[in-house]
Parts: sequence; C-alpha cells; structure tokens
Amino acid sequence: MTGTMTINQAGHLEIGGCDTVTLARQYGTPLYVMDEEAVRRRAEQYSQSLRGLEDSEIIYAGKALLTVGIAALVKQMGLSLDVVSGGELYAAAQAQFPMEKIYFHGSNKSAHELKMAVDYGVGRIVVDSLYELELLSDILVQSNRECDILLRLTPGVEAHTHSHIQTGQSDSKFGFGIATGQAKAGVEAASKLPNVHLRGIHCHIGSQIFEVSPFKAAVESMMDFLAETNNAGYGLRELDIGGGLGIRHTPEDDTLDIEEYGQFLVKTVRQAAQARGLPIPKLMIEPGRSLVGEAGTTLYAVGTIKELPGIRTYVSVDGGMGDNPRVSLYGAEYTGLAASKMNASETKVYTVAGKCCESGDKLLFDVELPVLVPGDILAVPATGAYNYSMASNYNMLPRPAMVSVYQGKSELLVEREQYHDLVRLHRIPERWQ
Ligand code: LLP
Repeated sequence: MTGTMTINQAGHLEIGGCDTVTLARQYGTPLYVMDEEAVRRRAEQYSQSLRGLEDSEIIYAGKALLTVGIAALVKQMGLSLDVVSGGELYAAAQAQFPMEKIYFHGSNKSAHELKMAVDYGVGRIVVDSLYELELLSDILVQSNRECDILLRLTPGVEAHTHSHIQTGQSDSKFGFGIATGQAKAGVEAASKLPNVHLRGIHCHIGSQIFEVSPFKAAVESMMDFLAETNNAGYGLRELDIGGGLGIRHTPEDDTLDIEEYGQFLVKTVRQAAQARGLPIPKLMIEPGRSLVGEAGTTLYAVGTIKELPGIRTYVSVDGGMGDNPRVSLYGAEYTGLAASKMNASETKVYTVAGKCCESGDKLLFDVELPVLVPGDILAVPATGAYNYSMASNYNMLPRPAMVSVYQGKSELLVEREQYHDLVRLHRIPERWQ
C-alpha cells in the first residue's frame, strides 16, 4: 500500500479518498487510477531535494506518463518537462506548458520535429549526434532563430538494471561518447556552428536504478569532461544527469528515497567541482518513473478462473500486456491487491493472466491473494510509469480510461477508447470495396 491507499469500512481499497470498487463500476475496467496527492508529494520532495545548490532544475520525463492533463499538473507543480517527440511536445503545447521550461530529447529527431521545437521556442534542445547538430543549425539559420542546446553524452557507465533500459554504457545508440572522443568533437562543432548556443552537457545512464554508485560514476565522468572543456575555454555551466531513480514494485524492492538521492547528488557535484577547481554547475535531473510510478494503480475485473490440479490456478483479468507491457518486455514484477475484499482472510496462490491471445500475457506470478471470484476487482499498484505510455491495442483491445483521484473526488484524465476509435484511421482500398 502506497500513497494515500487505505482500506475503507466496506473492506474496499480506497485511493485518494475514492472507493476503487466504485471507481471500477463508474468508469469500467481496466482503469488507470492516478493518486494526485502522491504525485504532488513526490514533486515537492524533488523540489526540496537539490537544496544547497545555487541553481538547479527538476525536469519531469514525460515519457513515463504524459497526457494533456498530466502536462497541466506538471506545469502547476512548477516543474520543467522533458519531451522526446513531436507528439509529446504537441501534448505539452495543448496544456499551454511554458515552452522555455521544455527540454527536447530524442536520439533521432526528424527535421520536422526540430523545426516544431524551434517554432515553439523550447528552452533547450538536447542534441544527440553531429548530424542532428548540423541539421538543427541549418533549420535555425533558415528560420532566423537561435537556440540553447545541451549535448547528450555517454559517460561509459553501466547501471545495474535490465539491459533494455541501460543507456550510459559506451556501446549505446544514444549521445556522443566521451571515451571515443566524439563528445569533444561535438563541443568543438557546436561552438563553431551558427545560431546554436551550447550551454552544457547531459547524460542518462539508465532506469530503475536502486543504488547511488552509478550516479556517482556518471557525475565524476561528466565533471571530468566539463573540466576538460572548460580548460579549453568553452565555459559550459549546465550539468543534466538525466533520470533513473528506481521505485518499489514489490515490498522486496529496496530503493533510495528522493531526499537521499538528491542530497547525494548535491554532495557529489559539489565535491567533484571542488576537486577539479570548477565552479559548481547548474544541476538538472529528469525523474520520470519515480515521480509517477508508485502513484498509479491499475484496476481490473476478475473473469475466468482456471484451476489446473497440482499445477496452478490462473485468474484472468480484463487487461494485461496491452495496458502493462512491462512484465513481458522486461520481466518486471508487480504485486496485486484484492480491492473488493481487502479484509478477507481465506487466501490462495494465483497466477494472474491477461486476456491477450499470447501465453506470455501474465501480470503476476504465484501471488497470495484472498480467494477470488469472477467480478472481484484486482488492483495492481505501481503502474503509473511506462504503462499507459507504452500501452498498445494488441488484439484490438481498447486502451483503458485514466482517472485522477484527490480527496474523495475522481476526474477523467483519459477517456476509455471505443471500438470506433480503433478503426478511425483504417481505410479500405477502392479495389477491395
Ligand atoms: N531522461 C532521459 C533522457 C531518459 O531517456 C529517461 C528514460 C528519463 C530521463 C527518465 O528516466 P526514469 O526516471 O523514468 O527512469 N520503458 C522502460 C523505461 C525506459 C526509460 C527510458 N528513458 C521501462 O518501462 O522500464
């Protein structure tokens, strides 16, 4: 149980003062539930966590979860926003997000996306390659605009996390390698090209990281690079070390808290600057998962229950890999709560499967839950990050609705997809009619 979760008098799971069984009835299932207070609390913790530095910025990584409503909340909480595509940028614009607080990322931004970012006037474009640097400079010259940029570097740090979400190692599709000399070449090129203003450097070493040591290694490597470039007279003042702080999916996960992580970074950056005789740079961090992950819970309705004697009991729910692809993609582990009977004492061990025609579509393995019957509501916590944002329509399942809950009130963030939405863009070639 995290955030504002409690058990109410009916024995139901309550989030943000809302009975989840009532939410399931009202909005249907599967349903993503976002605990607004839990997000706000974490944003506040982040805002406090870098205190002691003269200049710092918390940039929410929208790839974890972005809807127009979430962009509006991020704006209200006073955080900046990292977007990685024209689509995310468009969503932010729909929420009137202040453009100067937007960081535009991506390892293969198209000319169209760069032009869009330039026209919108985003705060920083985080340039990932020499090709992009030249493309951006051309676009700026043509449109008679200027732009502040950061260069994304790969510091050669291997974070201990799933290989699919490791990004800081030297063999990476991202950024300019420090070890290969590409980073230095990038800085030299940026300083010569017209209309781009290089302000600093960025790295992101991976995601769902539970220890401070890889962050320390990244800061050290980045500060070495800052020292080298500053000795050469480039005067870069900004250090963005990306996101990556892990969250608890199951009670066994042991993560750092935001305060501990932030203050560790402050200390490390300070000491690293001192050791190299550098001014302390502005420090930026880009948390995604750790801001919204634990604040999200998915509600499902229980359907078919199959007992395989001597093997296991499968409980099927009305969602699965379509709304949460992380289990089959990364082997991510979650837990479940029997939202409709939180106080039931008789339990059983279940494997919870999704409804896709795919054996791998499972959500929970061998979890002990109160004895379930069809119609019960199952809650899977910690699904706020990289669930909706990675959801698919596999098997033509409509994507779930999303609501925010706060002090007993629920409001829609995303409407449930309907069948007509699924075929809205489909066309029949004339010859087939
Ligand atoms: N900044 C950059 C440049 C990033 O690439 C990412 C995540 C973040 C910030 C935010 O990282 P976070 O704080 O959320 O760990 N789909 C995968 C995660 C991919 C993360 C990609 N980049 C998953 O579901 O685990």
